[in-house]
Amino acid sequence: MPPTTEESLGVKLRSDFPILHQEIHGHPLIYFDNAATSQKPQTVLDVLRHYYERDNANVHRGVHTLSNRATESYEQAREKIARFINARSHQEVVYTRNASEAINLVAYTWGLDQLQPGDEVVLSVMEHHSNLIPWQLIAQKTGAVLKFINLTHSGELDVDHYQSLLGNRTRLVSVVHVSNTLGCVNPVAEIVNLAHGYGARVLIDACQSVPHLPIDVQSMNCDWLVASGHKMCGPSGIGFLYGKLEVLRSMPPFLGGGEMIADVFLDHATYADLPYKFEAGTPAIGEAIALGAAVDYLTKIGMDIIHQYEEELTAYLLQQLYTIPNIQVYGPQLNQTNYPKNQGRAALAAFTVDGIHPHDLSTILDQAGIAIRAGHHCTQPLHRHLNAQSTARASLYFYNTRSEIDRFIETLQEAIDFFGEVFQK
Ligand code: ALA
Repeated sequence: MPPTTEESLGVKLRSDFPILHQEIHGHPLIYFDNAATSQKPQTVLDVLRHYYERDNANVHRGVHTLSNRATESYEQAREKIARFINARSHQEVVYTRNASEAINLVAYTWGLDQLQPGDEVVLSVMEHHSNLIPWQLIAQKTGAVLKFINLTHSGELDVDHYQSLLGNRTRLVSVVHVSNTLGCVNPVAEIVNLAHGYGARVLIDACQSVPHLPIDVQSMNCDWLVASGHKMCGPSGIGFLYGKLEVLRSMPPFLGGGEMIADVFLDHATYADLPYKFEAGTPAIGEAIALGAAVDYLTKIGMDIIHQYEEELTAYLLQQLYTIPNIQVYGPQLNQTNYPKNQGRAALAAFTVDGIHPHDLSTILDQAGIAIRAGHHCTQPLHRHLNAQSTARASLYFYNTRSEIDRFIETLQEAIDFFGEVFQK
């Protein structure tokens, strides 16, 4: 099949990623594990290296030239992130180590401070462990009660069930925007609107959406949103928490230490203004600056273009997977009437093949240079709900191509044939 315009987008952009140009076990690398972490373009690597070679100094602490340069780039990166998600102000963007830390920040500040025995926290069965465990811990400490939104038969969030869970005791709704296992895109603006009707706050786990879709926190109207830098072409060790200014202002500090203070006395302290109140200690400075470069890179391509290209790749991936006998693909399917009319489906597919363990599939694919993830993808309760101990998952990004999908499908079929022969012997 001749490459489409969209195909050439992936072909063109992959040249920006040095890591993609290597062989694994004698085969060209096909990297289909982007939901776990994305690869980094040369420009992000260059910015990180430049920072450590030319500008390395602590931020907000010195008046010398290097410190000024580091501080300026670090704060510019924050402004880039704020614009990228359409926050009203850079003060609404708090740097964290990753999305897990951002959720823990909200749980251990707002959650511990606000939740009372019997208050209800609404999550869904498709949450990543990082949007489940912090709330379990806080519920144990406060006596709050966790409630879980079910899935529809098509493997999407059941909005009717969600509505039935909301009530006067609902204080928080914390849900994922795009499931890292089902690929469904949840209707977050509707979720927020319904929760606000009961005076509840809403946190959106946007780890799998910020790298792939245009995000507008103002139109979403969420109270908090979290994301990880390493899934959006940035380095690991840096993520962020977005929070509405008035909500962040109302929250007590999280970690104590340098930088988060205004005045310190031996027996008490006053705290810095936002966002520094939540940024104790020396942060991941070079990584934050490199995340700013990743945002520049994604912005230059255009999130609409990335999204459109990935939708085409997703449809192609699913069509090709459906040609494999005895396969089960989880989440909303291509042929369902609600696709793509609903919110769409992200560029990933978790699947199982009858009689073959996902780890075995992944190992065979690796021998052919193809990286996928096998396991529970940090969604054990969801896997239990799906009656699958583990799944194999192919997750794509804008630098992947149709021809890579073709090679993946051929190799998957060969692996299945191989296991078929082994089992017959
Ligand atoms: N949450 C990441 C994934 O889904 C690590 O693989």
